[in-house]
Amino acid sequence: MARRQRRSHEISLNRGHSVWEMRADSWIALTDDLGRMAELPRDGAEFAERRERVQATLAILRPIESYWAFPGRKLFDELAQWFEAGDLNRTQLAARRINRMLANRSYRHQALSLDSDFDGPSEIETEEESQAQINKPYFEVLIVDEMTDEEETALRRRVQRKRRPDDAFVFDIVVVPSFEDALIATLFNFNLQACVIRHGFPFRSEYQLDLLRKFLDGLEEDIERQPESERGPLLGRKISELRPELDLYLVTDLKAEEIAVRVGDVFERVFFREEDHTELYMAIMKGVDQRYRAPFFAALKEYSKQPTGVFHALPIARGKSILNSNWIQDVAQFYGTNLFMAETSATSGGLDSLLDPVGPLKRAQEAAARAFGAKRTFFATNGTSTANKIVVQALVKPGDIVLIDRNCHKSHHYGMVLSGAQVAYLDSYPLDTCSMYGAVPIAELKRVLLAYRRAGHLDSVKMVLLTNCTFDGIVYDVERVMEECLAIKPDLIFLWDEAWFAFARFHPTYRRRTGMSAAARLCERFADPDYGAAYDRFARELDVVECDDDAKLIASRLMPNPAKARVRVYATQSTHKTLTSLRQGSMIHIWDQDFRDKTEEAFHEAYMTHTSTSPNYQILASLDFGRRQVELEGYELVQRQIEFAMTLREQVATHPLLKKYFYFLNVGELVPASFRASEIESYYEPATGWANMETAWRTDEFALDPTRLTLFIGNTGIDGDTFKNRYLMDKYGIQINKTSRNTVLFMTNIGTTRSSVAYLIEVLLKIAKEVESNTADLSAIERRIHEKRVRSLTEELPPLPDFSHFHVGFRHGPDGNLAETPDGDIRKAFFLSYDEENCEYLTLTEVRHAIAAGREVVSALFVIPYPPGFPILVPGQAISADILAFMEALDVREIHGYRPEIGLRVFAARALAAISDVAPAAKTGRRPKDGVVLQIA
Ligand SMILES: Cc1ncc(COP(=O)(O)O)c(C=O)c1O
Repeated sequence: MARRQRRSHEISLNRGHSVWEMRADSWIALTDDLGRMAELPRDGAEFAERRERVQATLAILRPIESYWAFPGRKLFDELAQWFEAGDLNRTQLAARRINRMLANRSYRHQALSLDSDFDGPSEIETEEESQAQINKPYFEVLIVDEMTDEEETALRRRVQRKRRPDDAFVFDIVVVPSFEDALIATLFNFNLQACVIRHGFPFRSEYQLDLLRKFLDGLEEDIERQPESERGPLLGRKISELRPELDLYLVTDLKAEEIAVRVGDVFERVFFREEDHTELYMAIMKGVDQRYRAPFFAALKEYSKQPTGVFHALPIARGKSILNSNWIQDVAQFYGTNLFMAETSATSGGLDSLLDPVGPLKRAQEAAARAFGAKRTFFATNGTSTANKIVVQALVKPGDIVLIDRNCHKSHHYGMVLSGAQVAYLDSYPLDTCSMYGAVPIAELKRVLLAYRRAGHLDSVKMVLLTNCTFDGIVYDVERVMEECLAIKPDLIFLWDEAWFAFARFHPTYRRRTGMSAAARLCERFADPDYGAAYDRFARELDVVECDDDAKLIASRLMPNPAKARVRVYATQSTHKTLTSLRQGSMIHIWDQDFRDKTEEAFHEAYMTHTSTSPNYQILASLDFGRRQVELEGYELVQRQIEFAMTLREQVATHPLLKKYFYFLNVGELVPASFRASEIESYYEPATGWANMETAWRTDEFALDPTRLTLFIGNTGIDGDTFKNRYLMDKYGIQINKTSRNTVLFMTNIGTTRSSVAYLIEVLLKIAKEVESNTADLSAIERRIHEKRVRSLTEELPPLPDFSHFHVGFRHGPDGNLAETPDGDIRKAFFLSYDEENCEYLTLTEVRHAIAAGREVVSALFVIPYPPGFPILVPGQAISADILAFMEALDVREIHGYRPEIGLRVFAARALAAISDVAPAAKTGRRPKDGVVLQIA
């Protein structure tokens, strides 16, 4: 039997555009062209033209279809042969059916009939068919092996024969012949749930995928040099890097026992030759079942079916108070009864208690930890606002210093008040032209840490708290930040606020920049002898502990000492913001090497402090099935979300009228060049599509999440707030959340569809036309007013103010004396303002005069303008001239903590005098000769 023909020509596949869209569009084009050809005379010019088009489409589809089970290479080749033989009717009928089955996904439960019977399914998915998919979900298994067509058919038959009526799932196989093909299939085929790697196969694919080069990390030569028998384990590692959720099995001809010892961490199981077909089949089913199980959701469903009498709280349980009511019956009609059947305050009877989980909730949290790559995961039913407070309270005690991004969510600022931390605010780089902040540069973090070291207070610095990614989509190089900070303070704890980043785990490009993934890699690297040797070489060149030259330490790439560094990482995620979960569903993920020894008890107390004794079961169940979803289809959903965002960017960048008024900010505008080693300005280029995103995400200090799309609207002369409310919402029913003076932020998410993207483009086009026609009709004076408005929105923007400083009364160091360092006791300031006699109100003009007269005016409250939504003043902070100028220039309606009629609430001078009697800073610095190092504004 001959090996399958390897084609000599190479076809370039890159992901500069959506392969999935290309596939769907190609099947539609194929069906249309074939339909038209059947009506045309065969000797005409149009027939010839269509024929060429069909050939081109078949050439595009051939490589793509070789990575999917349906219609599969064999059927596809048959279709192409019918076409070449001139059997147009048959080809068209087949293409139309395949197109239908792909579009309505009916191949997922019709797969059985395809090999032999091609009469195909009905055009419209029936109730029965969708029930079949619910009852028995379908997936595909990748087989990596060089096989003949006959061998492949035989294998497919064998798999089909193993199917049993009581199987929970049904699967089909996709066979690929090489290492590269396996990686391409892993990236393209979202139906894959498992992969069986057979012994020995070539490296190269007949197709080229530009993207592969990036994922192969220049390993090609190494891999090609390896004996074929070693490629299986290597391939397993690569696949698990790309899609760690896939179950991997190795079938080997060598000593299976020895190989299992070497690669057991990557493969679920290692099988010897073909001897265990039935075992392999069962293992595949079991592997998928593990991810499919949603223990708490299942327990709740089960509970809702049981007859129970409620002699307890919660009259709504079992819908009793609703169904017996004369006045709120419509509630049950609207929500359906299951919602209430699943409501209960019971924690037994198959259910569990969130405060002390031992059953299905415990298992659901363990499954979430597995899915999100954490050591431990805790569910929170009051959003990340609460999750943040739990983590801060668990780790920070009064007096501990926390370095924190001032531009972070308000829950952190309140968390600081609750915990009694000494707060050192870090400034993000400003983006004045868009009235927004970026993120905190590594150099700034190192500068502050080193300044604490000089002041002798490094021991008290407990935690670094940063937002990843920011509201506007700026993403840190999480691993590098932790690495360099740990080099200065090896026991530092990190809290990454990933409220907007829960989805990131499920895509290879994003995953690297999540807290959990970076923590896992750091742990692995610190344990690796090669890292140890590299560290020794580094330490001989630069001794971080002894080095007195801060500038040198800031400029150098620092390595932590693996013998000392502890990996202590926490991430909080609003599952509900980016994945399937009811509102307020959040998770706390933990990778803390010292959790057991140092934090578990305190964490438990903090969790008890903030968690309701009546947590909402529906939220908990949704966290459980939201996790199931991403473990089984997260990759597909996130990839699509990215593609939709890129399509939006592409349309606005290329359409003549859209680009006249609108512009999606690129990474070049949102991340200054000094933080972009790749020098990539935009993830979308008309010539290359969006292929360069991966490069930038690998190398740059800050990357941009392209699914958060900041639209610059300054050129329309409409401000952000008006654009959001009067145009998007009132006229077209489009909801967005954030605006700045001259931008509005759109986000795609895993629920975004092709139609919703099309609708948004349509709406932007309508608005552009309206602006165009309004400006065309302007009188000379009106035009001048319009131009002035545009200038004000595009050029005359108030510079964003930096954090000023805490008043001395709040700046005591660990010894109680005045500290040289900039941190402040925000809790003391917060509670000082509770006594009315300590406070007064001053208008902005009065504040300006007071400052001019030499008084230090100190805020008693948080003052937060929306937008931009970060506190420009916190309790205890002195009001600087810059901050005042910014407030005066702001033209937003909503400023929390400021009442225009009476002004700002500030501390009365006598209240400050009473707390200002602090001893001067003790000279505790490790190098007193250098004196005060930190600049206090
Ligand atoms: C960065 C950040 N962290 C935390 C939160 C709070 O999350 P939740 O709404 O889940 O309480 C938000 C909310 O917008 C946020 O933007």
